Amino acid sequence: MSGSSITGWGSALPEKVVTNADFESRLDTSDSWIVERTGIRERRFGGTTSGLAVDAGAAAIERAGLEPSAIDLLVLSTTTPDMTVPATSSTVHAQLGCSGAAFDLNAACAGYVYAVVAADAMLSAGIGFTKALVIGSDTLSAITDMEDRGTAVLFADGAGAVVLEHREEASPLVLASDLGLDGSLLSILYAEHGGYMKMEGREVFRRAVRACVDSAFKVLRQAGLTVEEIALFVPHQANLRIVEAVAQRLSIPPERWAIVLDTTGNTSSASIPLALIDAVEHDRLSSGDIVLLSGFGAGMTWGSALVRWGA
Ligand code: UT7
Repeated sequence: MSGSSITGWGSALPEKVVTNADFESRLDTSDSWIVERTGIRERRFGGTTSGLAVDAGAAAIERAGLEPSAIDLLVLSTTTPDMTVPATSSTVHAQLGCSGAAFDLNAACAGYVYAVVAADAMLSAGIGFTKALVIGSDTLSAITDMEDRGTAVLFADGAGAVVLEHREEASPLVLASDLGLDGSLLSILYAEHGGYMKMEGREVFRRAVRACVDSAFKVLRQAGLTVEEIALFVPHQANLRIVEAVAQRLSIPPERWAIVLDTTGNTSSASIPLALIDAVEHDRLSSGDIVLLSGFGAGMTWGSALVRWGA
């Protein structure tokens, strides 16, 4: 049996901290509304998608004890590329000094789950890839209307990355996955070229909960595992109330959730790796632990993956 394991990880956040009080002073909103309705207290704005990706990627490669040239596959999940052409992964690949292939992947806020599943599958396919760098990086502040209280307080910037190394004698990293979307729901969350994000928040909320719950049960069935066997639930960090609603329906207690949204806001592709890495750095994972990654986003896309930590 062959498989991959996560051997390195790294995060990057811009320096500029924006608190709820900063919005209070210029929008018709309040710290108490934002905290009660979303769980967000502060977030970071600034940087570029490639710059944050390079910082997170470099940290992950160093943590794995590798030279950048050892990376032969770079997958960058982003909704906010630096340019239309070329892919932002080209810039990141050049700046890090990676080898082999690189591509961008856009599945909105479910993108990081898609990216991990895609990279793991490519490493296992026997098509020449051995070490993958999987980055989620987004600069949503650039496509957010800072005058719209319905979105301005939610979205933010950041990046997170992991290194996947393929080994012949290893158990699989991804035990089960479910990637999907309903493309007929474009109108509830979108941004046109050069425009700001438009969102029907309540509708996204309702559909996100349903999609994440159904998808989580699907991967548990696929893997033949029970909820009790999930050591850590790493949800997309959009809204604490969405996390609570999903976790409650799955019966996962709060001590098994990975949460960073209180300090990061919704960083789209970066949110799942940022939460995962925060848990790792707080020694919340041991070798063999089962982790549920769960994302949803514009499209509407969803993605669930059960991964074995340190396999
Ligand atoms: O990554 C995926 C992307 N998006 C999401 O995951 C977002 C999903 N949706 C949500 O997180 C929530 O729907 C929101 C946080 C966006 C909104 O929370 P809600 O509890 O669903 O509120 P609502 O949209 O039902 O709005 C309730 C009220 C409205 O006022 P009226 O019509 O009742 O007078 C809004 O205008 O809250 C108002 N409101 C605000 N008030 C103060 C909306 N935004 C704000 C704000 N401050 N920032």
